[in-house]
Amino acid sequence: MDQAEKLRNIIKKNQISSSESKVQTARVITVSSGKGGVGKSNVAINLAVQFKKMGKKVLILDADFGLANIEVMFGAIPKYSLADVIYKGMGIRDVITNGPMDIGFISGGSGVVGMNNLGSDTLNFLVKNIAKLDEMADVVIIDTGAGISEAVLEFLLASEEIILVTTPEPTSITDSYSLLKALKSNSRFRNETKLRVIANKVASTEDGQQLYHKLATVVEQYLGLETSLLGVIPQDVALKNAVMQQSPVTIASPSAQSARAFQDIADTLMNVPHTDKVYKKGMAAFFARFTGT
Ligand SMILES: Nc1ncnc2c1ncn2[C@@H]1O[C@H](COP(=O)(O)OP(=O)(O)OP(=O)(O)O)[C@@H](O)[C@H]1O
Ligand SMILES: [Mg+2]
Repeated sequence: MDQAEKLRNIIKKNQISSSESKVQTARVITVSSGKGGVGKSNVAINLAVQFKKMGKKVLILDADFGLANIEVMFGAIPKYSLADVIYKGMGIRDVITNGPMDIGFISGGSGVVGMNNLGSDTLNFLVKNIAKLDEMADVVIIDTGAGISEAVLEFLLASEEIILVTTPEPTSITDSYSLLKALKSNSRFRNETKLRVIANKVASTEDGQQLYHKLATVVEQYLGLETSLLGVIPQDVALKNAVMQQSPVTIASPSAQSARAFQDIADTLMNVPHTDKVYKKGMAAFFARFTGT
């Protein structure tokens, strides 16, 4: 039995038990970018804050392994990370750290690269644990690393909903295109994946729209992929200051322009049609796709 088959069996068992116990499933939203430093982690933490303000249960998974993105932005020091679940057998609930407003996050720690070579016992344990996040969250936001690494692609291939953060820098636009190209050319890419773009660090709404149209046009023409513009976030000194204070701008300066943009984006995401049926397949399904089953 190969690893994919082992995992399929494990997922099958878990799905049976979760339908029996009517466990709710979470919506999984993955934040990514072609180029680094374009605002992914800010998108992840500020959307989490906005969802929390709406009364949603939200969790962030820091999948930029080894780089401590979320904990630094939240000014929180995690005791444990996902690596403790995988390599030390800890339960997923025990590695959640509380950030501001009691937003839970799971630190990526380091050394999770060996995920594809785990034995079936460890896999079983991991999937069962990850699936437990469903009971704890309405939304799980995954913050990935930048670029076209294998790990990032795996997360994107597993996601139903992808937010691609892009800035007006020419390299950010071309790197976004390259990321989508790599995704599209993978045989496991599913056309129904929602690809939503955030134009960040823009001078005006018009600039953001132009940037999106530039990207969307080539993506549609050369890759045949449909995207949508989720929102535009201005270049905002309040956001920069909030990062320096290790607090999300939506908490440090809720009336700042960028904070209001995050609020609009969170509203849009909560209002997309068929949220429950289409997107809420849960963490077990996410990890089933993660290994390509
Ligand atoms: N809208 C904005 N206005 C002003 N500065 C911004 C804005 N968005 C991001 N920045 C700046 O860019 C920096 C990088 O943002 P962030 O860490 O969220 O990017 P990232 O894509 O997660 O980076 P990495 O690829 O390194 O993980 C922030 O520290 C902040 O100073
Ligand atoms: Mg980051």
